[in-house]
Amino acid sequence: MVASWGAMAELAGAVIIVVVLVVVLSEGKVTGKPFLRLAYTALAPLLAANDPVRRWEPVCALLDLGPARSLLDVGCGGGGLLCCALSATNNLQVTGVDWSPAIAGRVRDRLASFGRSQVLVTDVSRGLPFEDCAFDRVASFGVLPGLRTWRFVLEEMHRVLAPGGRLILGGGNVFLWPLDEDQAFEAAAMLGFELQRRVRLAHHGEVWLFEKM
Ligand SMILES: C[S@@+](CC[C@H](N)C(=O)[O-])C[C@H]1O[C@@H](n2cnc3c(N)ncnc32)[C@H](O)[C@@H]1O
Repeated sequence: MVASWGAMAELAGAVIIVVVLVVVLSEGKVTGKPFLRLAYTALAPLLAANDPVRRWEPVCALLDLGPARSLLDVGCGGGGLLCCALSATNNLQVTGVDWSPAIAGRVRDRLASFGRSQVLVTDVSRGLPFEDCAFDRVASFGVLPGLRTWRFVLEEMHRVLAPGGRLILGGGNVFLWPLDEDQAFEAAAMLGFELQRRVRLAHHGEVWLFEKM
């Protein structure tokens, strides 16, 4: 009997892991948004533990943070990019947004010793809760491909970015990335983004760097 309880517990564990993986890897397309948010919340400890600063160093270099005063990370996950950006600068203010309170809480703790940071809980598919032109740099990795409203969110990123500011996008999961590339570039160009670089980075895959004209 003890052995069969053990076996059932193992089976239940395996089923939960498979369900979480299906939800996250399909970026909510199979199960819908509430499950996607729950799955990310379940993965919060994993996201935090697997997001070292060095993974983000090439991204910070592309963002050219020296002259920047503010950076927004849309869907900040483990908080590695924000941590890297804070470590590399003295005056940069960083803002992370994520729809999972568990993820946001962990990122807040991770960044607390720097000051210069805020992390908000918000569903970005409903918009970004910031003034026009509020940021010099905006980044988003692994978020847009999961959003039916990706065009609107891109528009929001454009709205909150200051003229001359940089937007960096990348890191969809290996199964479903990318967004339809032509559609994404066309939408970006219509908004007034100019593509500056298109590079493949270790740990991130294809990354697109835009400047707001
Ligand atoms: C694949 S993870 C990527 C995390 C991080 N950007 C990285 O590349 O390591 C996607 C992140 O975006 C968040 N996210 C997904 N959809 C979101 C939404 N609609 N609003 C806010 N955050 C969202 C998830 O909670 C998760 O932290």
